[in-house]
Formats: sequence, structure tokens, C-alpha cells
Amino acid sequence: IRVDWDAVTAEKGGFDHFMLKEIHEQPKAYRDTMLGRIDESGRKVVLPGLKLSDEKIRSLNSVHVIACGTAYNAGLVGGTAIEQLVRIPVMNDVASEYRYRSPLITPETLVIVVSQSGETADTLAALREAQANGAHVLAITNVVGSSIARDADDVIATLAGPEIAVASTKAYTSQLIAFYLLGLYMAQVRGTQSADDVAHVIAAMHSLPEQVESMLAQADTVKAYAEQIASHEHLFFIGRGLDYSVVQEGSLKLKEISYIHSEAYAAGELKHGTLALIEEGVPVIALATQETVLEKTVSNIKEVKARGADVMAITHEENVPDLLKSVDQALAIPKTLPLLTPALSVVPLQLLAYYAALARGNDVDKPRNLAKSVTVE
Ligand code: AGP
Repeated sequence: IRVDWDAVTAEKGGFDHFMLKEIHEQPKAYRDTMLGRIDESGRKVVLPGLKLSDEKIRSLNSVHVIACGTAYNAGLVGGTAIEQLVRIPVMNDVASEYRYRSPLITPETLVIVVSQSGETADTLAALREAQANGAHVLAITNVVGSSIARDADDVIATLAGPEIAVASTKAYTSQLIAFYLLGLYMAQVRGTQSADDVAHVIAAMHSLPEQVESMLAQADTVKAYAEQIASHEHLFFIGRGLDYSVVQEGSLKLKEISYIHSEAYAAGELKHGTLALIEEGVPVIALATQETVLEKTVSNIKEVKARGADVMAITHEENVPDLLKSVDQALAIPKTLPLLTPALSVVPLQLLAYYAALARGNDVDKPRNLAKSVTVE
């Protein structure tokens, strides 16, 4: 009898790659990251062990969200969540820029550093810069014993479990969950959301894991589209608002493992230069989930369509019939609150990167030139 398995195959739990396994672990990662952080009534966020006092939260006048790569992209969504829920100015920056530009940090600034590994050199250096200027530094990290977790004043651990694939997936979405929890918690303290509104968001968060599961069950549609775009060398993602934040992550993921050049653009910004690159047959992926700007996004879709682009729209079921008048294909994702939508809309983009890399015969889990943890500046 010959048994074809080794320790690594066993660790992949029946999946061909760690990345696919980790994409499928997201529903569990969402549940685990929420566990123990919502009170028994299901209406309130509790963050046991948080050192950030209510008094300190009330005294804050700004929030800086600092990270690299995918963690930075999660911070874009997280920053918007905090701004919307807490009504406090939020600034996002990549760690390698932040630390060299003498940022305006005061004791009234909350600096949030985001890092899956907790070992990213630039993020660690940014943390130290913030502390040296008197800020309270809160780390959102997946590794509790890491340098960043040890040095930060506060930690909200994402409970995604070990992430092996270089391309980050479940860490990103768990970081979103951590941001939603933190935003709700700060809103409770500052009274910027009613108790009913907080409860409403929490209820919607509880449905996210099942909604992700339903999308994973339809991965074949994304696979077919990935095989279609795999032969292209250039591709564009467009979106507005939170959709723009999410496509930045979709574009990074695609570049990282498929090596297809892609750019993520704020849909309204295209006409200021990038539109010149749109020609016959160029794939454009339009994320159109944010209802308040949907009409505007549709008019931007028409701009690229008129230049010959081949457009795939990712939207909600109810928008599909209308959108199909302006696009070539559409993919429907489940509906949640607009603020929480990134926790769902990123999933087809992760799958797209995975299947495109696979179609191109790339080493999905270990892309060229990249390391899982970047401990040099
Ligand atoms: C993610 O797919 C990338 N491999 C990379 O951008 C990563 O997110 C970045 O290096 C930051 O890592 P960290 O979260 O461990 O700090």
C-alpha cells in the first residue's frame, strides 16, 4: 500500500495550497475574532484587557492607522469604520513613509499599528516613533508573542490562526473584524452611536461567517473568470469609497501571486489620466457595492466600456439586471451593511488572485521575490 501524503500535505487539510485553505478558514477566523468580545446581550462590544481607558478614548482628537501591504489595506477599511462610527479624524499611512516625515503625533493621538506577523520592521519602527511622541499605541496583530505585540501599549489579537501562505487572506479579514469591534467600542464610550445602532451592526457581523461560506461554495464562477483573465498582462480595478479600499487589496493580491500587472483606481479618478490606458479588451473589475455612490460608479463603468474595456462588475444581486446593461459580466455577493461589505467583497478578489496564479502555473504559496515576514527596512 502506498500512501501519498507528507507532513506538509497533511497540514494543508485536503486543500492544494495553504492560501486556499486559509481563504476557507475565514468564517472560523471571523467567529474566533469576535468570540468573547460581544457581551451576553449581543448588543455591546467588550474588549477585555484593553488598557485604553474611557477617559483616554474621550480625550482623543485623532487616530493614525499605520501598517504595510495588506495590513495597510485593512487599515484603509478600518480607518473608514472608525471615522464613520466614532466621528474622529483618521489618517492612514504606510509605515515606511510615516516614520520619516515627522508626523504630527500628540498624546491625544491614538496610533493603531496593524501587522499579521507582528515583526514587520517598518511597522515596529513606526510604533516606536509614535510612542516617543507620547501617543498610545494599539496593535492589531495575529501573533501575540511578537515584537509589535510586546512593545505596543495595547493589543487586540486577531484570532485567525497561523497564516502560512505569503499572500495574506484570513489575516486581512480578521483585521477588519478587529477594527469593527474597536470602532464600535470607541463609539459606545464617546456616545457617537445609539445602543440600537451598535446592536444592529453586531447582529450583521454575526451573519458574516455564513455569508462567506455561501460565497466559497460558488468559487467556480470566480475560477472561470480567473482563467479568462490569466492570459492578460494588465488589468484594472475600480471602485468608490469602501469599494476603492477593497480593490486596493484585490490588486495587491493579484500582482503578488499571479504577476499580472494591475492597478486599483478610485473610479472617479480614471479620467484624470489612467483612462488613456484603457483600450479594446482590457479587463476592468468594477466593485460596485456601495449604494450611495452606485450611480456614480455606473457612469465610470460606462467611461471604460466606451473605450473598449471588458468589464466584470461585482455587486449585490438586486443591482445585477441594471448593471448588465453596462458591463460584460456580473458577480453577485451577499448583502450586509455597507460598512461591513469589505469583509465579504474581498473574498471573490482573493479567489480571483488564487485561481489566476494557478492558471499561470505559479507557486501560489511562495511567490517570487517575497517573504512572509519582512524584518528588514
Ligand atoms: C500580503 O499579502 C503581503 N504578503 C504583505 O503585503 C504583508 O501584508 C506585509 O508585508 C505586512 O505584513 P505584516 O502584516 O506581517 O506586518
